[in-house]
Amino acid sequence: MESDKFLSDDIVRSAIYSTSVFKDKRTLQLNYIPNKLPHREHQIRTLAHYFRPIFQEKHPSTNLGYNINIAIVGPAGIGKTATTRYTLDAIQQEANNKGINFYVAYRNCWTARTVSAVVSKAISHQFKVRTKGLTFDELLNILVQRLYTDNAYMVFILDEATALPSDDIQTFLNIHEELGLQSRISIILISRPSEWKIKLSSAVSQRITEVIEFHPYNFDETYEIIDYRARLAFRDDAITGEEIELIANISYETQNIRHAIEIMDAAGTLADVNQQERVTAEHIRAAKRNVYPELRAEMLEQLNDQELIAALAIARKLLQKNTSSVNIRMAYETYERICEDINVTPRKEISFRNYVRTLIDLGIIGQVTPKPGRGRPGMKNIGLTLFDVPAAVVIERVESILQKRGYIVR
Ligand SMILES: Nc1ncnc2c1ncn2[C@@H]1O[C@H](COP(=O)(O)OP(=O)(O)OP(=O)(O)O)[C@@H](O)[C@H]1O
Ligand SMILES: [Mg+2]
Repeated sequence: MESDKFLSDDIVRSAIYSTSVFKDKRTLQLNYIPNKLPHREHQIRTLAHYFRPIFQEKHPSTNLGYNINIAIVGPAGIGKTATTRYTLDAIQQEANNKGINFYVAYRNCWTARTVSAVVSKAISHQFKVRTKGLTFDELLNILVQRLYTDNAYMVFILDEATALPSDDIQTFLNIHEELGLQSRISIILISRPSEWKIKLSSAVSQRITEVIEFHPYNFDETYEIIDYRARLAFRDDAITGEEIELIANISYETQNIRHAIEIMDAAGTLADVNQQERVTAEHIRAAKRNVYPELRAEMLEQLNDQELIAALAIARKLLQKNTSSVNIRMAYETYERICEDINVTPRKEISFRNYVRTLIDLGIIGQVTPKPGRGRPGMKNIGLTLFDVPAAVVIERVESILQKRGYIVR
């Protein structure tokens, strides 16, 4: 008994203290912002350029405000978030050096659901005032007053902005109409192209001064970026150019740098767990099978079983029909069939619609409104789709979660 325990302790100790292939694993965390963003110089410059007036001596900032609304649009995993945060951090730093009050409120809109919630949180964080129970207008009043008294500017970065209701965003963008030149509030919206086009651009484009587009990196750029990130994360002798090239190839194929970052993390962890000193092609291939960077994976884990089955039904129907959208009726039939297969009592269609509504609100499922003349708008006629993520990937992910929860999914 005793000796068994010592044996296990040894395993634990050697796992804790054995050497790791990682030099700094933190640099692979998804919110880590590196010191350099190769091949995003143009976007950094463009973005920074818009804040020049704040730094110009002649800017009569004591009386006048400065504001700008910018949209950052581009597909998944190519540095929109990283570049925007990097640039605004650097601007804030420079403003600090110059004694200019420049505040930045970054929010991923999946965690905030309404503009009021975003503004409320920003105010309580920045000015340490209680904002509970205040209306949007009251919040704005406080914000405007505070910025005026502090002679300060505030930039809101609304990341994944399409998670917010678009009329909510519209109201927020419209404050410049009321405040005019006095406004000291700037807004940066970040979103992916299909979501931008479907949910936002027509509603807000008039209020946007500049759309900064992000395009995927070419192979050489991808390689260079991944090489740089690998050097930050791994010990020098733990990974060779060959393995980095393999990762670059995978990531270039999906046009997504997050893919590479997640693979490096998973492959390095595999090497460590197996007590190997180097990351091998085998680790990389094994890691690849578990990584879906396009998908907002953490969101899926939070769904209940019924919602997951609904998502699975929509994805399967999309794949089976090979079309860009399916209607709720078709999805419901597939849902009933899946329920039967996995031994779950199907709920009524009305409940199913609620699950779908939740999936839409969370951005897991997209909706396309029917063209005029093709029936009344409303839940019955909307098309259900997946934005930017292949149906097969959603199916695989959802099935594996259901399996983990004990269902036998075929
Ligand atoms: N030029 C670059 N140099 C170094 N790292 C980069 C570069 N571009 C992207 N990355 C890294 O790739 C990952 C994905 O980037 P980011 O999170 O900014 O993508 P995104 O465009 O915001 O994607 P999504 O639409 O999914 O939110 C991050 O870890 C980021 O640090
Ligand atoms: Mg992002």
